[in-house]
Amino acid sequence: MKTAILTFSQTGNTLKVGNAISEGLRTKGHETEQTRYLHRKKWNPANADLIGLGCPVFENLPTENVLDYLRESNHDFEGKKAFVFITSGGSPGKSLWRLAKAVKQAGADVIGGIQIRGAVTVPTKFGEFIDRPNADDLRQAKEFGVAVADHLTDKAELPSQFQIDPNEGGRLYDVLGPCLTYLKKKITPLATCDETKCDLCGTCVFECPTNCIKIRNKKVVFQEGCMVCYRCWHVCPQDAVSIQFSPKDGFIERTLYSNRMERRFGNIGNDEIIGPNLYTDVLSRKIKLKYDRHNPTAEFEYRQ
Ligand SMILES: Cc1cc2nc3c(=O)[nH]c(=O)nc-3n(C[C@H](O)[C@H](O)[C@H](O)COP(=O)(O)O)c2cc1C
Repeated sequence: MKTAILTFSQTGNTLKVGNAISEGLRTKGHETEQTRYLHRKKWNPANADLIGLGCPVFENLPTENVLDYLRESNHDFEGKKAFVFITSGGSPGKSLWRLAKAVKQAGADVIGGIQIRGAVTVPTKFGEFIDRPNADDLRQAKEFGVAVADHLTDKAELPSQFQIDPNEGGRLYDVLGPCLTYLKKKITPLATCDETKCDLCGTCVFECPTNCIKIRNKKVVFQEGCMVCYRCWHVCPQDAVSIQFSPKDGFIERTLYSNRMERRFGNIGNDEIIGPNLYTDVLSRKIKLKYDRHNPTAEFEYRQ
């Protein structure tokens, strides 16, 4: 059986999970291929028997570029079996279910899904779950791949933890996510580029998940459509991109997504270690994410 997986991943967490799922499927003789969302034109689900869709959670929802892609492109997933996977910090809301719903609406029969923790690099929460997905998370993802293969070949029932529960996560953050997505776009200023620092390398253009950054007349131009993911800000090798974060943004987000709130209303277990919050260091640019175009990573370093 052939499996074609499409994965959106900015800092590599979701790709790692996709790889572990593939490993599980391959132990059962499946052929698998994972395509990065940035190369989505090359993704070929038509020849696959099974498809997989994976993305991170942004503002308690599956990332909107992936949802838009599923909605807008003329996919014909009719008759295909599918699985979904997401990675998140402590407040995924109903993202797994929402992603499954979008894949179903594109015509596929979604058999199950998995959500896994991933290191958080959103500026107000930077550093949380720093070492995730860890070996245990990836073992679970591999088990998921094995279970999907067994389900398809031997008609074995998918273990309950891999079935998608429409009621899971439907609390505060499921309401907050859509409001925050809307508000952030209204109140967060768009990124700007300092032309004196920019050398037109095109990293921001390549990385922008909504294709809203262009180079025109030797200038970087930010167009409509930004989903406020801060990727351009993180990856610019020259630090030419800036976003005017206001103390208010920091305060509101850090209150709504404090450890206590995420333990109470998110999905963080009582004994789960959350890890550090390096918010001030990242905003003051003491910290820089490592960047490799081909191998996205959540690793970072302190500048000298
Ligand atoms: C802009 C942005 C918004 C995010 N919003 C949330 C959120 O609302 N809830 C959550 O649990 N995690 C959130 N995260 C954390 C990501 O879902 C998590 O870090 C994910 O593993 C990143 O996956 P990737 O490495 O494949 O890009 C957010 C991350 C970013 C960059």
